[in-house]
Amino acid sequence: MAMLEIRGLTKHFGGLAAINGIDLDIEEGEIRGVIGPNGAGKTTLFNVISGVYRPTSGVIRFNNEKISGLSPSVIATRGAVRTFQRDAVIHDFDVLRNVTVAGHLHSDQSIIKTLFGDIKGSREKDEEKAMKILEFVGLDHLCHELAANLAHGFQRVLGIAIALATEPRLLMLDEPVAGMNTTETAHMTEVINRLHEEKGMTIMLVEHDMKTVMSICKKVTVIDFGEKLAEGSPSEIMNDPKVIEAYLGAEEIVT
Ligand SMILES: Nc1ncnc2c1ncn2[C@@H]1O[C@H](COP(=O)(O)OP(=O)(O)O)[C@@H](O)[C@H]1O
Ligand SMILES: [Mg+2]
Repeated sequence: MAMLEIRGLTKHFGGLAAINGIDLDIEEGEIRGVIGPNGAGKTTLFNVISGVYRPTSGVIRFNNEKISGLSPSVIATRGAVRTFQRDAVIHDFDVLRNVTVAGHLHSDQSIIKTLFGDIKGSREKDEEKAMKILEFVGLDHLCHELAANLAHGFQRVLGIAIALATEPRLLMLDEPVAGMNTTETAHMTEVINRLHEEKGMTIMLVEHDMKTVMSICKKVTVIDFGEKLAEGSPSEIMNDPKVIEAYLGAEEIVT
């Protein structure tokens, strides 16, 4: 039984089928790349899974329970959490408080105990939990810095820390290294890799940067015009004639 089961998922915006009959299975502990040209429907897919948009048709099951049609907050409580580019970071709060506040909303679930130790309760304990998350993502040295003062790359990593504080079981990352320099990209890539390898986190990664996707993900799904075009290992994807024709032909994929 896959952790996330999507069947016949369709999302229309007026006359446009942004997602058109997608079936997708994500296994627990998997790290799945989702790629496709601009406008293919990748962000819409995340928005529908996380409840930002209701599907036009189709069903989404998470841990064997139907989540399609539920509100974003309920879906997040169930553990399917997406990161946003900037929205989640509160700029007037310091780094630690950003993570502590996110953790308050979800202070009594069990998965974080598995991930970061059995800690809950008082404000001190909440801060301790937040510090563990900050240590994990490499932001602990900046814990008392105002979020607004962080470099772009660190702000994006803080976005991940905030998402982690909500105790996700499935983490959906939409272009996490977009706009990052080489150093920032390496840091983010390492954080994502370690979440997968050390914490066993289930991750869906939408990413434009092919090098990042191909280096992190063992399985990749290609979406084109709202439909699933191909699925397989990075090497299968890179050699799939349909993918090359629809998407990769003009891109530098072999790095
Ligand atoms: N809220 C919306 N209203 C209308 N059209 C939308 C909306 N969100 C996305 N779209 C359209 O849906 C298609 C898929 O967009 P998106 O999911 O953002 O693609 P991707 O993330 O793969 O670049 C695009 O044609 C886009 O213009
Ligand atoms: Mg997008």
